[in-house]
Amino acid sequence: MTQTTAESPARKQRAQLRVRTLRTDRWWLAPALTFAGLLAFLIYGFWAIFDKSYFADPYIAPFASPCLATSCPEGARFLGLAPFGAWYALPPGLLILGLPGGFRLTCYYYRKAYYRSFWLSPPACSVAEPHGKYTGETRLPLILQNIHRYFFYLAIVIGLILSYDAVLAVVHNPAGLGSWILVANAVLILCYTFGCHSCRHITAGRLNHFSRHPLRYKAWTLVSKLNARHQQFAWASLFSVMIADLYVRLVAKGVINFPFA
Ligand code: FES
Repeated sequence: MTQTTAESPARKQRAQLRVRTLRTDRWWLAPALTFAGLLAFLIYGFWAIFDKSYFADPYIAPFASPCLATSCPEGARFLGLAPFGAWYALPPGLLILGLPGGFRLTCYYYRKAYYRSFWLSPPACSVAEPHGKYTGETRLPLILQNIHRYFFYLAIVIGLILSYDAVLAVVHNPAGLGSWILVANAVLILCYTFGCHSCRHITAGRLNHFSRHPLRYKAWTLVSKLNARHQQFAWASLFSVMIADLYVRLVAKGVINFPFA
């Protein structure tokens, strides 16, 4: 039997086409929309990190939670903690940005999304990429994408803290629209987090016999259902966190100011 190896001449050659693709559909639409969506999120996130109106009691904006800086206003500080002391003078959001940011950046779905839309590598199936060399994720820096599993553990903590914020908001202002926006955001964030491919693998990925582990099998079944909609939850939670964050800031700035805000 002929074996195809990395050294095989057949593997070294690609089909020589004179055009970039033979596709005639609108293959560019999905990467263009993805590019626009992710860029909007990055621009909003950059603005939000430096915006100071992130607390409107009992609401705290998700981009600033958990608030762990000494500059956090009374009632906003998470469990009253300020582990970084008075020397930390930068925006509180910068302290925790790396956790949800790293989680999304290394997510299997987002990798596909930004490899296609930002790096055009490749922009779509059966469309040639502009780069001459392709090494995948086999070397630095992209081999670091493998730390996704560890970001997953940290993302659970962030998801639980956002849920705690939402519960506090409902307890203190059950009729407030903001409370329920925070609840919806927390639910979507948890659905996205627990639908993670790493979570599915951790839950039961290495079991040989589901019948001997009924509880893990149940958990795996649930995670698999979320996992099947991981792309949808990735986008839904991306927009929900922006909407919830903006809503709290607009209330804090007095732009939204009606009885049931
Ligand atoms: Fe998307 Fe883990 S694969 S969050």
